[in-house]
Amino acid sequence: MKLAIMGYGVIGSGVAEVLKINQDQIMKKVGEPIELKYILDQKKTLPENGECLIHDFSVIEKDPEVALVVETMGGIHPAYEYIKSCLEKGKHVISSNKAVVDACGSKLIRTAREHDCNFYFEASVGGGIPVIRTLYHNYAGEEVTEITGILNGTTNFILSQMKKKGAGFSETLREAQQLGYAERDPSADVDGFDTSRKTAILLSMTSGNRCRHEDIYTEGIRNVSAIDFEYAEKLGMNIRLLGSVQAVEDRYFAYVAPLMIGSSDPLYPVDGVFNGIRIVGNCLGTTMLYGMGAGKLPTASAVVSDIIAAVRHRGHFQGIGWSEKMIEIEPMGSNAFRYLARIEGTPEGLEEALREAFLEEETAFRPIRLNGRSDEFAVLTDILFEEDFLANLKDFEEKTGRRIFHFIRVKCGDHEI
Ligand SMILES: NC(=O)c1ccc[n+]([C@@H]2O[C@H](COP(=O)([O-])OP(=O)(O)OC[C@H]3O[C@@H](n4cnc5c(N)ncnc54)[C@H](OP(=O)(O)O)[C@@H]3O)[C@@H](O)[C@H]2O)c1
Repeated sequence: MKLAIMGYGVIGSGVAEVLKINQDQIMKKVGEPIELKYILDQKKTLPENGECLIHDFSVIEKDPEVALVVETMGGIHPAYEYIKSCLEKGKHVISSNKAVVDACGSKLIRTAREHDCNFYFEASVGGGIPVIRTLYHNYAGEEVTEITGILNGTTNFILSQMKKKGAGFSETLREAQQLGYAERDPSADVDGFDTSRKTAILLSMTSGNRCRHEDIYTEGIRNVSAIDFEYAEKLGMNIRLLGSVQAVEDRYFAYVAPLMIGSSDPLYPVDGVFNGIRIVGNCLGTTMLYGMGAGKLPTASAVVSDIIAAVRHRGHFQGIGWSEKMIEIEPMGSNAFRYLARIEGTPEGLEEALREAFLEEETAFRPIRLNGRSDEFAVLTDILFEEDFLANLKDFEEKTGRRIFHFIRVKCGDHEI
């Protein structure tokens, strides 16, 4: 079968490389060679596969020999128009591009259905980690109640280094940029938008319906500080940027935020640029996927697995994806967490006000103090709905005149602290 790659950067060139490295295995699996016919890119020349290079998309669109198209250009336009046009001609399209999958996935899935071909997007979430097909196949008989993941290697690297070195956010970001783990403009990663798009795709897979990443509460890691890590260490916890979706009957909850997690959470040890995805099913219980969430060959490997699936499903639509019906995501205020609230001054004389705001009567009052710091202390609240927590926080500040410097959400079992 003949293949075209649109966008020959890190992942596109990785796809050509994986097809070459594993050509014998792939041949055995699909029974025919997969031949790279065209590479569409803006580059003038290529160091390898230069003979395939073209600059005009219509060549791919019009060539009936091309049955498989890989889109690794990134961005929404013109990726969407190119993918749509290929699907309308019955070509299978495989994309690693979370932006186009999140924004236009349901339309592209419908177009694939209408033209008996497939739009696959395994690499768009978790890079090389096989989460999309796992949800489609292995959770087919399950009601998925929760998916929570560390979905962005850049932020996980930054948070891991902050924990290891006791360093602040800005200097650790600079180090990540020097090492090539963070972009010069790091906003998509550190402000949580990359995780938010992936979380939206996971929610669409879970619900079978469409959602908008813009509707997911998204908070990045810029405000996580070395002091937060000192408190986390004191509690035996870790801080990670999580993307989470929950389904409770017909209600859907989702958020992206940095959370403190306890050591019994399978995501606790996920370190450095690695990603982890914890999935909870009503009968299966908890499972965990772990691996390289980005990078040339791991991500390209996921694209190649989609290419093989496309060859195996030629001539019919497989049905991976979701409908165009829109679901509503519950407001962030209706999620419940414990919170670590960092409060100005010392705890003396504040027990009553803190209890009223954050603690049940039977909960022990245990303010947390850091060695050598008399300007602040922290309390770990009982589980509260976010809207109640925020209202109580405001009341507490007004009544006591004490500022709450910062709070961080906490997920842990009672036995852990
Ligand atoms: N890198 C990863 O680890 C990773 C992991 C998972 C998913 N992804 C996703 O995979 C996609 C590709 O990522 P990447 O890291 O490979 O990006 P990249 O290195 O920037 O590659 C994109 C390539 O596409 C070319 N291109 C862009 N627009 C084009 C157009 N209109 N026509 C022709 N060529 C065009 C670019 O050319 P110019 O350089 O001239 O613009 C570049 O060569 C993105 O959606 C990304 O989010 C990446």
